[in-house]
Amino acid sequence: MGPKGFNAAPFSLFNMVGSAPCMLMFCVGNQGDGSEKGTLQNIRHLPEFVVHICNEKIAERMNICSTDFDHGINELEKAGLTALPSLLVKPPRIAEAPVQMECRLMKIVEFGTRHHVVFGEIVMFHFHDGIVNERYHVNVEKLNPIGRLSGSLYTKVREPFRMERPFLGERPKQLT
Ligand SMILES: Cc1cc2nc3c(=O)[nH]c(=O)nc-3n(C[C@H](O)[C@H](O)[C@H](O)COP(=O)(O)O)c2cc1C
Repeated sequence: MGPKGFNAAPFSLFNMVGSAPCMLMFCVGNQGDGSEKGTLQNIRHLPEFVVHICNEKIAERMNICSTDFDHGINELEKAGLTALPSLLVKPPRIAEAPVQMECRLMKIVEFGTRHHVVFGEIVMFHFHDGIVNERYHVNVEKLNPIGRLSGSLYTKVREPFRMERPFLGERPKQLT
């Protein structure tokens, strides 16, 4: 959210970072002309943002959000997505996204290159019904996420499989 309103954009250079506190990161590249993307400009202006997980249902609408709309254009409206007020941060969240993570900026790491890595603390999670159980374990079939493999090639999660980690001696209580 910035002086010209809020924006939405997909970021595949994204990962979880830790659980206490809950943290995530994503990487924003500059535009072709060297200028900073709206997402980064907005976070510099207001150090709060919301990160969502995308599923098959909203894949096309997520893709529309990657259009280089002029600043000030309501990208959510263009994509047919609904803004909902967040609870702890000013930028709104996207109602249709199955997981919505309200974040406060922790740090922007600069390398002097055209890429900037943004770290955020997740201060509030929202899940659609059935996505997590009472122990916060994720139901992948219900989440139905998509992944970007490269360029315009994506994948659906159809055959998740389980593989336990090998341990010498006793299995540690706390796993990461
Ligand atoms: C699936 C997908 C993943 C993307 N991932 C990234 C990314 O990790 N980093 C990035 O800088 N741009 C990424 N982009 C491009 C941005 O979404 C695009 O530049 C967007 O218009 C930026 O919006 P903004 O100027 O409002 O920040 C991705 C685009 C798509 C379709």
